[in-house]
Amino acid sequence: MTATKGLEGIVATTSSISSIIDGVLTYRGINIDELAEGATFEEVAYLLWYGKLPTASELEELKAKLSASAAIPAEVIDAIRLYPQDANSMAALRTAVSALALYDPAAQDMSREANVDKAIRLQAQLPTVIAAFDRIRSGQEPIAPKAGLSVAANFLYMLTGETPDDVAVKALDQALVLHADHELNASTFAGRVTVATLSDIYSGVVSAIGALKGPLHGGANEAVMVMLEEIGSPDRVESVINEKLANKEKIMGFGHRVYKNGDPRAKHLQKMSEELGKLKGNLDLYRMSVQIEEIVTGQKGLKPNVDFYSASVYTTLGIKRDLFTPIFAISRLSGWTAHILEQYDNNRLIRPRAEYTGPTSAKFIPIEQR
Ligand code: ACO
Repeated sequence: MTATKGLEGIVATTSSISSIIDGVLTYRGINIDELAEGATFEEVAYLLWYGKLPTASELEELKAKLSASAAIPAEVIDAIRLYPQDANSMAALRTAVSALALYDPAAQDMSREANVDKAIRLQAQLPTVIAAFDRIRSGQEPIAPKAGLSVAANFLYMLTGETPDDVAVKALDQALVLHADHELNASTFAGRVTVATLSDIYSGVVSAIGALKGPLHGGANEAVMVMLEEIGSPDRVESVINEKLANKEKIMGFGHRVYKNGDPRAKHLQKMSEELGKLKGNLDLYRMSVQIEEIVTGQKGLKPNVDFYSASVYTTLGIKRDLFTPIFAISRLSGWTAHILEQYDNNRLIRPRAEYTGPTSAKFIPIEQR
């Protein structure tokens, strides 16, 4: 038995949800470029869950269900009030999602119908949890979700209490479309491993949130912003990045296990970053990001991934840095739950082996002789 570090190149399951073939990403066979330009996040979530694009009436039905499920139990809000003010936002999200299970009478119902309902409910509730956490830690009262708003619009509304402008809603919605699913990425795999024991959907999502949190995965978008803040101004880009490269530091938002010739999602976020910068009259973050890309791609051949330009996009939208990864979770929840449903439909326990590298004939020594 020989281990492959990081399971690189290992095909661990079959799936018909999303594919990365020759650097092209599709959801259910539809190119991400077409979805990014033409679909809303709700249409994409439907596509991932049901395997086809919704008709107008199916979409309306899903939106109505999302709207009706967006409130979270008062007990969960009360529990969030007890979180430390400086709690890590992904740790808070992970904890609150775990708590949601306690108040869901169907949490342990393993029927397919109940699991689809739970996927929709979680999709509706995640933005509410994150917005409530952010308001409570800022000394403000949480804002209840507003009926009739999209997932993106409702999230922005619940953060501020103000009706978000169309540009912000469209940008966030497109970002949600771009992050919704990505084959067997680390968090999706974590979720599938958990539910393959026939554990419940909440446990799968909690595992996935834990995996997304790390800076080598979803946490990279926040880490990109930390780097942009550290650089501070366009004139410092060259010296800071060159120093990092000389010190063999990883540049956050670059590189990918699967894409070696560039992440197809990055160009959409780059365009959005430039457009939003122009609209807000400040292109500094965009220009700094482009400069960083030129240096890192020029010197290391590494291309930006989905996380790189999302940092400038979210900051230009006025979103706090530590909410970037939770936003990724809002979007990826659609993919996680589609994969969890697929896992239940064709389940087998996921239990690989390890190549043992320790001693083989060590002797037990009684404690008094050690
Ligand atoms: N900056 C500098 N060097 C890098 C970077 C980077 N961002 N990414 C990879 N490299 C280098 C490594 O140092 C390594 O060099 P070496 O062979 O000289 O040691 C080589 O490229 C291969 O890198 P690995 O880390 O082995 O590649 P792996 O496939 O395991 O990792 C990963 C992929 C985790 C995405 C990596 O590129 C990375 O850490 N990037 C920065 C974090 C990041 O942006 N993560 C988000 C990924 S997208 C997502 O999850 C949504």
